[in-house]
Amino acid sequence: MAERATVIVSNRGPVSFRRGPDGALEGRRGAGGLVSGLAPLVAGTSTTWVAAALSEEDREASASGVVEADGLRVRTVALDPEDLRQAYDVVSNRTLWFAHHGMLDHFREPTFDATWFAAWGAYRRVNLAFAEAVADLAPEGAVVLVQDYHLTLVAAALAERRPDLVCVHFSHTPFARPAELAVLPEAVRAELMGGLAAHAACGFHSERWAAAARGCARAVGHELTTFVSPLGPDPADLASSTAAPACGEALARLDGLVGDRAFLVRVDRIELSKNILRGFLAFDHLLASRPEWRGRVVFGAFVYPSREGVEAYRRYREDVDRTIAEVNERWGTEGWTPIVYEPDDDYLRSVAALRRADAVVVNPIRDGLNLVAKESVLLNERDAVLLLSEGAGAWDELADDVVPIDAWDVVAAAGSLHRALAMGAEERAERAARLRRVVAERTPARWFADQQAQV
Ligand code: G6P
Repeated sequence: MAERATVIVSNRGPVSFRRGPDGALEGRRGAGGLVSGLAPLVAGTSTTWVAAALSEEDREASASGVVEADGLRVRTVALDPEDLRQAYDVVSNRTLWFAHHGMLDHFREPTFDATWFAAWGAYRRVNLAFAEAVADLAPEGAVVLVQDYHLTLVAAALAERRPDLVCVHFSHTPFARPAELAVLPEAVRAELMGGLAAHAACGFHSERWAAAARGCARAVGHELTTFVSPLGPDPADLASSTAAPACGEALARLDGLVGDRAFLVRVDRIELSKNILRGFLAFDHLLASRPEWRGRVVFGAFVYPSREGVEAYRRYREDVDRTIAEVNERWGTEGWTPIVYEPDDDYLRSVAALRRADAVVVNPIRDGLNLVAKESVLLNERDAVLLLSEGAGAWDELADDVVPIDAWDVVAAAGSLHRALAMGAEERAERAARLRRVVAERTPARWFADQQAQV
């Protein structure tokens, strides 16, 4: 089969532009899981990555069409800033994200009023602008890999403009069950699911999300062709991070800070679906119910602010800050801070924390995959126990060798923390070895090949 040209389309792109010392625009690569996995695969190839211009410098770069940045061919799409804000904050993050994560309490207050429908108009315009950019640059017969809920309507718009292109969609999130998506107006659901049905295939990290999406499509008269292809970390990329001097320095600092205590670690964006608060409440209950752990364990919370344009996220961040302060106030002593909170997005420090952890907490309510869980398995140097909740897509692959942690029941979760922290060395080593084997099976290269195999 002749290789088809490939175009990747995502809201947040692989690089962000800045002005260098000489005043010229420079593209710097971001550190997200998808970017670090895909960038090495597509660098130096003819693949073009189309993404929203998220800053003034990105907008300036868009004027030059496709630009070469950090080995990647990137085309930023300049959008009306207010349209982008409405499409991103209101439709993508405040509506679709919460629906796909089953967080229906966010629909308690009236949502679908004239203001919301204006934002939906902006979402349509943003999707259309992406479709126009792709239509302009995609080589004849190219495969277009559309990423995530921000861009559900791109393929339908492309079908009219460029019927030669084949679009494949991939959702890195979970997908709402039909009863959950039903909180959205029926016409909106029909347009969204029709948008997904305009793809040759729709991919998911878990069959659970694929089945939900098929059900949502059927409910409004569409059929989806789905496939399941979980992503995995890129071992070479992780190795280059651990080799960085700043990672070694962070590791030494954390080592000094933890000493001979047990080190419980979590690494997350401050994101409601990650269920960060209940993790701290479980820790609080552990200290209350099992005094033997007081002074013997440090919970490293490497959680950093995200999507602060949405009020629910800002409030959640305040709750996180307050809960940490309360737990530390309740249990802390002269020489022991129970929760060490470092709320900056320092990637190499987070890598160091996962290397040093004795147990890693991943307890989302629902999560598309959770790449951090898989990264921790490959990075960790102490046979850390992975605590994982069933809501994570990665559960499908890892369940046999994790310690399950209940996302909702704080008392049960405290029991899981105890079980993980108390586990003997032999069992930890056996589980960690099996987890490493399972995680190594899924690389970004395999994930990328699965997308292209859909056409
Ligand atoms: C997470 C999700 C992705 C999503 C991304 C957007 O990583 O797993 O599905 O595309 O967030 O993040 P952003 O910071 O751009 O809102």
